[in-house]
Amino acid sequence: MSAIQVQELTRYYGTRAAVDKLSFDVPAGSVFGLLGPNGAGKSTTIKMLTTLLPPTSGTALIGGYDINEAPSMVRQIIGYVPQQLSADGELSGYENLLLSAKLYGLNSKNQTRRVDEVLEFMGLSEFRNELVNQYSGGMIRRLEIGQALLHEPQVLFLDEPSVGLDPVARKSLWSHIEEWRKAFGTTILLTTHDMDEADKLCDQVIFMHLGHIVAMDTPANLKATLGLNATLDDVFVHYTGTSIKEGGDFNNVQQIRRTISRLD
Ligand SMILES: Nc1ncnc2c1ncn2[C@@H]1O[C@H](COP(=O)(O)OP(=O)(O)OP(=O)(O)O)[C@@H](O)[C@H]1O
Ligand SMILES: [Mg+2]
Repeated sequence: MSAIQVQELTRYYGTRAAVDKLSFDVPAGSVFGLLGPNGAGKSTTIKMLTTLLPPTSGTALIGGYDINEAPSMVRQIIGYVPQQLSADGELSGYENLLLSAKLYGLNSKNQTRRVDEVLEFMGLSEFRNELVNQYSGGMIRRLEIGQALLHEPQVLFLDEPSVGLDPVARKSLWSHIEEWRKAFGTTILLTTHDMDEADKLCDQVIFMHLGHIVAMDTPANLKATLGLNATLDDVFVHYTGTSIKEGGDFNNVQQIRRTISRLD
């Protein structure tokens, strides 16, 4: 069963299509990665799927609900963590979560129960009463994801969840996301510029470039099409051609990278 069905989703800004007739399905319970260079249209796609931005044309079904026709139903079954900081630094972790619980309309008994559960699950119980401006970047991201999970959404949208995190904080975030998915079967759609992260977390990925899908498959299959030892970074360069300016074909690029990594 598909948790997300995207059908020719399109968004213009002026005369330019930021997202152009995008179509894909995300199986329920899977982790799906939206990848691509800056400006590819990833955040615009997520904003349409979360009903924050109306599509110019096309639509999507989230848990069977149409984003154009039943946006309030969609909002009830999704969680969203935006690319920008969303937690309030002047409040404690507990207060941030309680505020979100109220916004989601949880009844007062459930509010404190869910806030305690989420704090525990995200490894933040011991810091619950500290102001968020004292939290590390990793703790803030875990808190923000926790805020989006309070109402037990079927589908969770994460726009660059690990941006700015150090490797340890990033790995800790990945394990929290994986544990959450295993425990609750939540479908997760995320964007990231970290190809290791996409490789580790995602069952399937899409590479977007200038609003179009240029590749869609499992990370393993995509790497295999480029040959032995190819990484998802290589796949990124191959399909979007953006991050390496030296020119040359894939083999040249791979060789350059191997040489660089030997010098490290
Ligand atoms: N509000 C807006 N008004 C006009 N153009 C916009 C607006 N938001 C995004 N765009 C343009 O739409 C295109 C897609 O932007 P989007 O933010 O979706 O990309 P992205 O893939 O999320 O990039 P990044 O990796 O940098 O976050 C870009 O060319 C961007 O400049
Ligand atoms: Mg973005």
